[in-house]
Amino acid sequence: MNNKYLLEITNLCKNYTNENNSKIEIIKNLNFKLKQNSKVSIVGPSGSGKTTLLNIIGLLDAEFDGKLYFNNKNISLCSKDEINNIRGLSIGFIHQFFHLIPELTVIENVMLPLLINKNETNSYETSKKLLIEFGLNERINYKPLKLSGGEQQRVAIARSLVNNPDLILADEMTGNLDENTANNIFKFFINYIEQNKKTLVYVTHNKTYSLLADEIYYFKNKKIQLTNE
Ligand SMILES: Nc1ncnc2c1ncn2[C@@H]1O[C@H](COP(=O)(O)OP(=O)(O)O)[C@@H](O)[C@H]1O
Ligand SMILES: [Mg+2]
Repeated sequence: MNNKYLLEITNLCKNYTNENNSKIEIIKNLNFKLKQNSKVSIVGPSGSGKTTLLNIIGLLDAEFDGKLYFNNKNISLCSKDEINNIRGLSIGFIHQFFHLIPELTVIENVMLPLLINKNETNSYETSKKLLIEFGLNERINYKPLKLSGGEQQRVAIARSLVNNPDLILADEMTGNLDENTANNIFKFFINYIEQNKKTLVYVTHNKTYSLLADEIYYFKNKKIQLTNE
């Protein structure tokens, strides 16, 4: 194992079973190495398996064949609790539909990962600082549904970053925003990732955004391939 990789996947295979109990093969013999501090984009048609792969990379789905090392740790040898711990401390997710908790205020949503990880000291101040940086200082006590889509996504981005994770995963994060808002948010987001030297894997349908990555992968034949291969 080489230390400069945050994640290494070898021979990944992932199947689902459909309602007729037959096997659907989504990922077959996929190999992938993710360099520390790099930005990787994944593009490909709907239904090709992008979200499935992101869930595996993000340690949300452990039901697969093959090997996955995260920070040099063989994940198949870890207990569920260990995996949950690694995910909680090291990985931030951003989804297309924000997935904010409507009953909680903006700042409570952002604080949540800190509270879950028992990282409660200064959780309010840390979250507030991030929300101010994201231009949301006027909104911290609002409920998410009172905000625009762009504001909700900025809250979700702040929540994904509050724990200072090593890896950020974004699944079509601008897919539900108008073009102008999407452009502003994506620019801001990429800038933050670069300034803070984070590792990012993002799925997008937007060619301009995908080109901002250091490596661009295309989902084809049940695996991902570098687009210049
Ligand atoms: N839990 C599941 N059970 C059965 N099939 C699934 C499940 N999740 C996704 N699929 C199927 O797997 C394929 C890939 O899905 P997904 O990874 O969501 O694709 P993408 O994100 O590229 O649009 C799709 O055909 C989808 O219907
Ligand atoms: Mg998807």
